[in-house]
Amino acid sequence: MTERLQKYLARAGIASRRACEEYISAGRVTVNGETVTELGVKVEPEDVVYFDGRPVKPEPLEYHLLNKPAGVISSVSDPQGRRTVASMASGRARLFPVGRLDQDTTGLIILTNDGALAHRLMHPRFQVDKVYLADVEGVVGERELERLRRGVRLEDGMTAPAGARLASRHGGGSVVEVTVHQGRKRQVRRMLEAVGHPVLRLHRKRYAMLTDDGLPVGAIRPLTRKEVTGLQKLVMAGKR
Ligand code: URA
Repeated sequence: MTERLQKYLARAGIASRRACEEYISAGRVTVNGETVTELGVKVEPEDVVYFDGRPVKPEPLEYHLLNKPAGVISSVSDPQGRRTVASMASGRARLFPVGRLDQDTTGLIILTNDGALAHRLMHPRFQVDKVYLADVEGVVGERELERLRRGVRLEDGMTAPAGARLASRHGGGSVVEVTVHQGRKRQVRRMLEAVGHPVLRLHRKRYAMLTDDGLPVGAIRPLTRKEVTGLQKLVMAGKR
């Protein structure tokens, strides 16, 4: 939901809407790290708003882990009426996905209303590991795995070093486990295509320390307090 900054601040209990307008004009409010002094500015749930140097949150923070089914899109709403990950968490606060999975990709995606944590988890600086299982055409050899590990040239540049291992072989195909910390568009599919093995199916089985163990495709569960703390520590310390 998009809303005016003064309304957002008022809903968070900072002050009345009129008083919040004065705070904005006085330069006491930042949005995504930038001081905002005009009054017309709109904010999205994922924006990071600070008042007098403290984060502003209009709702209690919620964290859920979804094992996304194929066919569902990674957004909050869709003008074409397709099913979204946010609709799979309906009834809960205004949640948005941390990053994206392609419509056809299955697997783990976090839904939250904690813009600050989401922002950090998605920032390349924190190098959060994402582990995928890719069911690909053809028999993948050590040479191709090594190319994936070293980095592959894609049309938007080289990929960063990645993890890659052969998980299994079946018929004429292979299942490759790929670990990346970047989040470029269709990155894993493009990496495998570039080494000659188009992806038939893609599943994200791990995001940071969160795995899909016990969470079947289509299921959603709240993160435990320990898991949330674990994610916060990860991005505060800047470690994987
Ligand atoms: N890489 C892809 O190619 N697709 C995804 O959905 C995620 C990573």
